[in-house]
Amino acid sequence: MAGADGDVEQGLLSGRRRHQVTLWEKLWAKRRIIMISAVLIMFVGFAYSVLGGPTKPITPILGVPREIQRNWAQYSPYFPVEDYRSPPKGCAVTQVNILQRHGARFPTSGAAKRIVVALEKLQSVEEFTDPRLNFLKTFTYALGEDDLIAFGVAQSFDAGREAFERYSQLVSLDNLPFVRASSSERVVFSAMNWTQGFATASRNKFSPKLSVILDEAANDTLDDAMCPSSGSSDEQTSEWLATYAPPITARLNSGAPNANLTDVDTFNLISLCPFETVFNEKDSPFCHLFAAEENAFSGFEYSGDLDKYYGTGYGQDLGPIQGVGYINELLARLTGTSVRDNTQTNRTLDSSPTTFPLNRTIYADFSHDNQMIAIYAAMGLFRQENALDPTSPSPRRNWRASRLVPFSARMVVERLQCGSETSVRILVNDALQPLEFCDGKDGVCSLDAFVQSQTYARNDGEGDFERCFI
Ligand SMILES: *[C@@H]1O[C@H](CO)[C@@H](O)[C@H](O)[C@H]1NC(C)=O
Ligand SMILES: *[C@@H]1O[C@H](CO)[C@@H](O)[C@H](O)[C@H]1NC(C)=O
Ligand SMILES: *[C@@H]1O[C@H](CO)[C@@H](O)[C@H](O)[C@H]1NC(C)=O
Ligand SMILES: *[C@@H]1O[C@H](CO)[C@@H](O)[C@H](O)[C@H]1NC(C)=O
Ligand SMILES: *[C@@H]1O[C@H](CO)[C@@H](O)[C@H](O)[C@H]1NC(C)=O
Repeated sequence: MAGADGDVEQGLLSGRRRHQVTLWEKLWAKRRIIMISAVLIMFVGFAYSVLGGPTKPITPILGVPREIQRNWAQYSPYFPVEDYRSPPKGCAVTQVNILQRHGARFPTSGAAKRIVVALEKLQSVEEFTDPRLNFLKTFTYALGEDDLIAFGVAQSFDAGREAFERYSQLVSLDNLPFVRASSSERVVFSAMNWTQGFATASRNKFSPKLSVILDEAANDTLDDAMCPSSGSSDEQTSEWLATYAPPITARLNSGAPNANLTDVDTFNLISLCPFETVFNEKDSPFCHLFAAEENAFSGFEYSGDLDKYYGTGYGQDLGPIQGVGYINELLARLTGTSVRDNTQTNRTLDSSPTTFPLNRTIYADFSHDNQMIAIYAAMGLFRQENALDPTSPSPRRNWRASRLVPFSARMVVERLQCGSETSVRILVNDALQPLEFCDGKDGVCSLDAFVQSQTYARNDGEGDFERCFI
């Protein structure tokens, strides 16, 4: 700033009428300079934060460059995509609906098996010709399966703390957050650590409890297991793998004679960079193995983007139907009327005020990435102009798994009271959504318009749910 100060000083004084500059005038000029500098510093700081400067780290940032860890698709650690914006002037938040993904976890059991296959091939090699692979001579694979890990615990705790800090005005001893979770263990533990973070932030004045666990083998609006006829994204992700992975596989094989790695192995080896890093909370040697490769992480990210899009998103005929039950529950809460749904809801639970109250101000539901995607798509969020191309990523797409469903992702639906108007706005990982489907103005729709826009959910998916079983 020193150089800039000098420029400002000249600019201020040079255009003045020529007369004796008094001591007082000099002091006044200095004060103006200080004031102008302060304004400049504030402006630069503001611009920096808006244009992607560092946001306040919540959970410790892992020692991996941001452009890499934000290209890990659904295995990226949560980060706020934008800075949270307070509601518009004249609006007060009157209800909050949080839908959150579990925190960081081990690979699923299926992924773990594929990882081990790839590692065994590499570790059977006698002599690497690429020294970047030498670490494998002493490397031991030590990850578990499926479960929440310490970093995911911390993410969930931090999210609970942040929720209290942001919405404490909505909480009282007889109005605590109402918390539900889908029944898988990592989701349940994420919910419990969230409530712990919430309580701790309130100095244990407010201790919400996990009230309802929805059985994943039964009617569960927080899981995507109720539509057996729904297809998978295998075709699209395989096509993309065959597009981006071969040069990387060839490079690995040339450094590891006789390993005979396939493209699938390459994918699973790249996945060790996120999985190991979130587990050890320091960068994995697998990150370095691929860091110089131009396409390894962007290719990995796009694989996740396709997986979500064609798994339960817009690209899957019976994807969005699986989000309908949750949306009908959300509409019930927003409007304070009983749930109307003929899809995945558990009617017994949803018709009782103890298991589905309508008079709370904070609701927090814990779920999975694929289910959150189904809910986004059923609602109309992140609609793409063109379907994602399995051989060629559009750089302009805003469908990125790392921004939609990272570990500990969250969608927050805020109900607002703006004068006499009741409105809603939606934040996904703190990015305010435009809500073009209900004519959003600066991301705000009237509650009425929002409810009207949800025709797919309100009509029970227009027959799609029946097609889940044929
Ligand atoms: C909600 O309603 C139940 C009874 O249906 C009542 O016990 C509880 O105190 C109410 N909670 C709030 C926050 O009004
Ligand atoms: C947080 O999750 C871990 C499992 O990862 C669990 O052992 C612990 O009990 C949870 N904490 C609370 C407060 O429930
Ligand atoms: C509904 O919820 C109740 C209470 O948790 C449970 O006993 C029942 O099995 C559930 N039914 C279905 C079909 O989900
Ligand atoms: C790779 O293929 C070669 C030739 O078929 C074979 O000799 C070698 O055992 C294979 N390596 C592994 C790790 O399976
Ligand atoms: C579970 O969902 C099915 C399908 O909508 C429905 O027929 C059944 O009544 C539901 N059971 C409960 C307990 O809500």
